[in-house]
Amino acid sequence: MSHIFLYGPPGSGKSTIGKRLARNLNLPFIDLDRVIELNAGMSITHIMEQQGEPVFRDMETDALKDVIGHDFSVTDSQAKIIAVGGGALLRNENRILAETHGTIVLLTAELNTLLGRLKNDAGKRPLLAGDLHEKLTSLLDQRRDHYSSFAIQLDVTGNSTAQNALQIQTRLGRFHLRAMGDYDVIVEHIEHIGNLCYERALQNPIVVTDENVAKFHAESVMASLRKQGFSPNLLTIPAGESYKNLETIQDLWHGFLEHGLDRKSTVIALGGGVIGDLAGFAASTYMRGINWVCVPTTLLSMVDASLGGKTGFDLPEGKNLIGSFYPPKLVLADPQVLKALPEAEFLSGLAEVVKHGIISNPELFDLCARGLDCVKAELEQVVKHAMAVKIKIIEDDPYERGFRAALNLGHTVGHAVELVSKFELRHGEAVAIGMVTEARLAERLNVANNGLSNTMSKVLSTLGLPIQIPRELSREEIIRAMKMDKKKNAKAIRFALPVEIGKVELVDVADLEMVLEES
Ligand SMILES: NC(=O)c1ccc[n+]([C@@H]2O[C@H](COP(=O)([O-])OP(=O)(O)OC[C@H]3O[C@@H](n4cnc5c(N)ncnc54)[C@H](O)[C@@H]3O)[C@@H](O)[C@H]2O)c1
Repeated sequence: MSHIFLYGPPGSGKSTIGKRLARNLNLPFIDLDRVIELNAGMSITHIMEQQGEPVFRDMETDALKDVIGHDFSVTDSQAKIIAVGGGALLRNENRILAETHGTIVLLTAELNTLLGRLKNDAGKRPLLAGDLHEKLTSLLDQRRDHYSSFAIQLDVTGNSTAQNALQIQTRLGRFHLRAMGDYDVIVEHIEHIGNLCYERALQNPIVVTDENVAKFHAESVMASLRKQGFSPNLLTIPAGESYKNLETIQDLWHGFLEHGLDRKSTVIALGGGVIGDLAGFAASTYMRGINWVCVPTTLLSMVDASLGGKTGFDLPEGKNLIGSFYPPKLVLADPQVLKALPEAEFLSGLAEVVKHGIISNPELFDLCARGLDCVKAELEQVVKHAMAVKIKIIEDDPYERGFRAALNLGHTVGHAVELVSKFELRHGEAVAIGMVTEARLAERLNVANNGLSNTMSKVLSTLGLPIQIPRELSREEIIRAMKMDKKKNAKAIRFALPVEIGKVELVDVADLEMVLEES
């Protein structure tokens, strides 16, 4: 994994945000200025006074080379969060070093914010000695073109350190989960899977995939693993929910034995939610549990199924009745692979993206409101933001004892509609219908203001998703199916109801007839 460099004008919060980011991502934090001071045995002010800026800049280059592990092979150098001084990348050599060893994030802030932060320690900053306002304004003027030349920028004004760190993580697609298991979730090219497995000391991988995904992506994953010295095996199973059963699990167990998997081996699930659930469950039970890695290849599995550690399979009596909580060692999502995904599958996943926007990310919802072309043009950011919503919720409530139930928005009605349609409706289509129906319920219960269901249905239909329960489906059967839902409690069903875009509330509803009332 490559380094993250935080750069920007003095006072933009590189060190404070860097430390938080490092803690969130379980990576070391390095403040380059402190390294320079340590190497020189004196403060930067003294270096500047006694030896001058050119010598300081040379020291900066040397320190940068040291901390990025420039003289070692890439696999020897652990990824780090590195805060670099506000003028460090003016030297082209330094900029190239940073660009080739990681990602640079430029932090910016309004002048008043910078001044407020600097007023107490301007004395420690030789380039700002004297009239702070004048010095800083002129420094920003001099560096305006330089700072604006960085592709990834974050304005930190008005946000807390935690918010800024999370925004950087979302922008870069890097998360570390620890509420259940301890693992990274990374948005990156699928070709990096070999390196990422190697860095985590995972062993003897076997790739489990389905026939459709194998055609497009198995070879690049196998090649990437071979490149890192692994001798991977491949197990391909038929595609589709109808194979998410005990028979397939048994086939996987036998396949693992035939390929000689032992307790240290690693299962790599390459596919949609079906493959993740099956391969994850097979890994959770084989030899009492072996390592697994999830490489989701559908939109639904990227933003939903791959996150949260749930694995399992269906019984003839119902979906997902058998399963385990068993977190992977790594999730690697590459939005590029979605190019091969059939449009209907893409739309099905998009319903979950819209759902995540409604739960807690109005900007994501607004982006979806701009239509399918816009979503596709911004796909990488859409995936990262939708993942961030689910990650925040499952980290706060990994075992669904409270607010994780918010993720059920649209699902109580959605599951019932999906079931009664005999799975003619795809999961995402049923969830879209469920969200609008449940928003109408929220309006009737005065949980939401009138108009919310219209706002939601407009966006969902613009994207090509259905919003109404098909006429031919029996309302009585849908209500019966809701009562059978495993999430019911004795007297009432707990719904995750939208309050406004960006907020949901858990509400117990006893009168199920009113859920489907037309209003
Ligand atoms: N574990 C969880 O927390 C969780 C959460 C939500 C859903 N799920 C489960 O996920 C499953 C649904 O997942 P899904 O929608 O990803 O379905 P899926 O895995 O069946 O994939 C849908 C179809 O797309 C094909 N496909 C996948 N990736 C492709 C690609 N990149 N290019 C071309 N074709 C590709 C597959 O072969 C399949 O035919 C359900 O079984 C559901 O229960 C699990």
